[in-house]
Amino acid sequence: MTKQLPWLVVGQGALGSLMAVQLARQNQSVQLKLRQSQRVTIAYEQSSHSFTGTIGINCPSLIFAAVKAYQVAPLLDEFRQQPLFDQSQLILSYNGMLSNEAEQLRPQDWHWVTTHGAYRDGNQVVHGGHGESWLGGMAGQTTPPAFFSQLEQALPPLHFSSDINLRRWYKLAVNCLINPYTVIHQCRNGELPERVAPAEWRQVADEIVQLAAARGRQLDAEDLLAQARRVIAQTAANRSSMLQDYRLQRPLELDYLNGFVVTASAAEGMVAPANQLLCERIKAMQATRDPQ
Ligand code: PAF
Repeated sequence: MTKQLPWLVVGQGALGSLMAVQLARQNQSVQLKLRQSQRVTIAYEQSSHSFTGTIGINCPSLIFAAVKAYQVAPLLDEFRQQPLFDQSQLILSYNGMLSNEAEQLRPQDWHWVTTHGAYRDGNQVVHGGHGESWLGGMAGQTTPPAFFSQLEQALPPLHFSSDINLRRWYKLAVNCLINPYTVIHQCRNGELPERVAPAEWRQVADEIVQLAAARGRQLDAEDLLAQARRVIAQTAANRSSMLQDYRLQRPLELDYLNGFVVTASAAEGMVAPANQLLCERIKAMQATRDPQ
């Protein structure tokens, strides 16, 4: 029997914390990657879970990194300096798309795409929306990895996908259709259907379909909108990650979501005015609000 690798969870945000707790509840060995070695406690439902922090990869590991898109490049730079990275498997989760993904990630890396919604309230993690997740490899692997069942048991349902990039297009669309609007309307996901004009939503979706087609992917705008509505229903009580970041005055993932649609469309000789307008509205809100 092959020995199970321990988990190293990167990202102290809501999803990283939720996964760390859920893996620990399945009796997996879990450490958190922190800036210094210390113990960290995460409260979840009625219980508290205590984790050891580590600053690097100190044994071959399963690395689960739920990070912001803008943290991916520095994280990979840091890991590439560590000899044990080659013997470790990396499972990455972030919203949006990077312009140079193929150069950043290794063929043996995995994407975890999720519609679960969660938020942190101090050291408490709240699972605000029970969605679903997909795991797939950068190289289009056709069989699930050995660690699949551990992730599946920790946070079900989990589906294996041999075309994870299709899931990532769907997730990009869902985030582009939900996240900026929750900032504009300062509301939870569930309030969006009564606040967003259907024609405007449709245009945002059409521009994603147009970009995907230019990149060889056939998507359908009505299908994207139906997926967004389903995620909204599943995560109605959740505050989107962008709304949480906006309220805490942290950098937003806008440039990797609607901003990505705008710049990637421009690179294909096309325009994406509805996505552009969303970026402008949010940037204007950031520029004019009172400093904390
Ligand atoms: O970014 C988020 O908040 C999440 O991806 C989702 C699924 C929209 C739930 O809030």
